[in-house]
Amino acid sequence: NDNRRVIAVADPAALAEAAAERVLARIEANSGRVAVCLTGGSSPKELYQLLATDPYRSRIPWQRVHWFIGDERFVPADDPLNNMGMARAAFLDRCAPAANIHPIPTATADPTDPDRCAALYERELHSFFGADTLDQSRPLFDLVLMGVGPDGHTASLFPGDPALDETARWVVGVPRAHVEPFVPRITLTLPTLASCREMLFVVAGGTKRAILTRLFARENLPANSARSAGETIWLVDREALPEGFGG
Ligand code: 6PG
Repeated sequence: NDNRRVIAVADPAALAEAAAERVLARIEANSGRVAVCLTGGSSPKELYQLLATDPYRSRIPWQRVHWFIGDERFVPADDPLNNMGMARAAFLDRCAPAANIHPIPTATADPTDPDRCAALYERELHSFFGADTLDQSRPLFDLVLMGVGPDGHTASLFPGDPALDETARWVVGVPRAHVEPFVPRITLTLPTLASCREMLFVVAGGTKRAILTRLFARENLPANSARSAGETIWLVDREALPEGFGG
């Protein structure tokens, strides 16, 4: 399904604001328990910092919002490369109840076995959502945030990697990253990421224009295979936006 919508914004500050508004809208659309899947990398950092400041901070009902992560570098929680560590430092540790933060447990697993770590997170997801199969009519996440790498990867789903074809498991280990940092990864699979009401890509800066040009030309790359069963939105700033896409 080609349900992708591109929203162009001026710059990284406008991108963070537009993304924060979408986070809030998704939270407000659900009066019960909310599940948000965060992303790593540098792109969402400004958004995360914004969520920790008013008016956003006081508009978020922190007690009923749960925060997951779509992929993780296989490093300890306090390693500067840790994706959830970045999100915690940027906003979660100051705002969210500890029980509502759901990191991929990189420390509790055998340090040589990312797949075992993936299995632990899969079990946590099964238990949180009370299901071990995906159901189109009951998406797991209210919102899934995503980034795009220079090779068209998203989450830790790299071009040509077998993790892309996984349909049964919710979370898998990726022994070799294809781009820096070259540490093993743990990633949610495409069907799991797709199980959401909204998938929101945040993409900013001139270094992203080349890969966006390829993606918007519909090249077969992981970021093009990542589609929500609901809405898929690409928030893109002016510097990243390919020629001919307006904005
Ligand atoms: C990771 C991310 C990854 C990221 C893209 C974009 O663990 O590296 O989850 O998928 O979103 O590589 O990264 P930047 O935002 O740093 O460009």
